[in-house]
Amino acid sequence: LLMASGQLSREEALECTRCRHACHVMLYSDTKSQLFGKFPIRHIILMQMRFDGLLGFPGGLVDPSKETLEEGLTRELSEELGLPLPISVEDHVESCFAPPSSPPFSSPFSSRLMLHFYVKKIEEEQIREVERVAASTATDHGQEVLGMVRVPLYTMKSGGGLAHFLSHSFIGNARSQLVSSLLRFNMASLEELRKALTRSQE
Ligand code: APR
Ligand code: MG
Ligand code: MG
Repeated sequence: LLMASGQLSREEALECTRCRHACHVMLYSDTKSQLFGKFPIRHIILMQMRFDGLLGFPGGLVDPSKETLEEGLTRELSEELGLPLPISVEDHVESCFAPPSSPPFSSPFSSRLMLHFYVKKIEEEQIREVERVAASTATDHGQEVLGMVRVPLYTMKSGGGLAHFLSHSFIGNARSQLVSSLLRFNMASLEELRKALTRSQE
């Protein structure tokens, strides 16, 4: 249970009653649209630009003594996205300890952060609605959330696309959550990801 880099089940993770808990979700849809009539977009994946200038997934801190993880995540989504989007236990993908942060934010185990990650597929029209509402009526817009962004999955001749996106800075383990979800949900091949990851470090 205490292995630093190990994935935990939802139940194992909840055994840490002295941890703080945070839940985030990757919302995505299929799409038939193409960029410049040339590059299939394939999937729309929603991330957000956070108040701290880092990219992350929507979600936030949840208190399991007061609400279930999924109730808390749903509440965070209504604050950050501005509409009800119920997340359920079946959408849970993995839990793990947050990567240790640097001083002065590093803390002893008693207040360590447990991260729960969810993935939920919705309709393309729902994605568009989230984008519309998030920018106009979400209470956190312009505060904790500076804007929703889509993840480009294609790679252009110039190298533009996924590799450039991955070279931005991400909160916590959001970058690895993104990369492993692309693989797990068949949104990118191992080969495509390898190339993009290599290019993103150039
Ligand atoms: N996406 C977003 N955040 C993540 C992720 C991820 N994939 N992985 C880990 N985190 C961590 C961040 O380090 C963050 O501090 O989870 C923590 C809580 O998530 P937030 O979305 O930032 O929490 P939220 O409840 O929405 O906002 C509260 O206001 O008072 C500030 O700094 C405080 O970040 C906190 C925010
Ligand atoms: Mg929040
Ligand atoms: Mg948040």
